[in-house]
Amino acid sequence: SVVGERAVDLAGLRVVVSAGGTREPLDPVRFLGNRSSGRQGVAVALAAADRGATVVLVAAHVDEGVLAEASAHSRITLEHAGTAAELQSAVTRAAAAADVVVMAAAVADFRADAVSPGKLTKESTGGEGLVLHLVETDDIVAGLVRDRRPDQTIVGFAAETPAEGETLLDRARSKASRKGVDLLAANEVGWERGFESTQNTLLIVDGTGTVVGEGSGTKRVVADVLWDCVANTRDEVNR
Ligand code: CTP
Ligand code: CA
Repeated sequence: SVVGERAVDLAGLRVVVSAGGTREPLDPVRFLGNRSSGRQGVAVALAAADRGATVVLVAAHVDEGVLAEASAHSRITLEHAGTAAELQSAVTRAAAAADVVVMAAAVADFRADAVSPGKLTKESTGGEGLVLHLVETDDIVAGLVRDRRPDQTIVGFAAETPAEGETLLDRARSKASRKGVDLLAANEVGWERGFESTQNTLLIVDGTGTVVGEGSGTKRVVADVLWDCVANTRDEVNR
């Protein structure tokens, strides 16, 4: 079906998208964060909603202004999450009623094992520098895969910095199988590429490592390529 000129091929689909970077507190004024702007995840949410899906967008830290269009969209419900643990509870709760979950958020892998109740000071560390003890956060997508219903599609994202002699596809394949996701969208990042940009290049593989899609252009354009892949995968499963 079509609204105006636009296909609403995802009408009725219930979607959860996480976006942006989590922030793990060290003390009341400091955190460990990452360079995710949230642009790609928000573009994924908008693309789905514009194509008729009902979307819960769980936003970790997202750059100023990036959320404006999504928060005004009639088919997007916006939720906020600060830490990996908060993101985990919001996504896991929303996933229970979702057909598709897209984990585009840059989730911290480590958090401080003890958050200082007061501000860390130079005085309190006595000129010796500061050693932080970090522990791993829960792997949210691993939990989603473990609890996946047969009709549910779990999509992971991977921002990779391939080493010499290694390709993005190698990395995407090994991560897709390690994570057990139905689809993995991989992009290359580095000091000068990937972050804050409005453009992206995505390579999309399925759980067996087969390339099912590739897209280059604005983050919205590649988001639509991703939804085409999701729709194809679900058609094949339901055939
Ligand atoms: N992810 C997650 N929970 C975490 C870390 C990552 O759900 N604690 C999700 C991300 O949202 C993404 C996928 O897992 O969809 C892959 O993230 P990535 O950081 O590439 O994978 P990791 O398993 O953390 O591996 P790496 O050591 O390469 O960071
Ligand atoms: Ca990680």
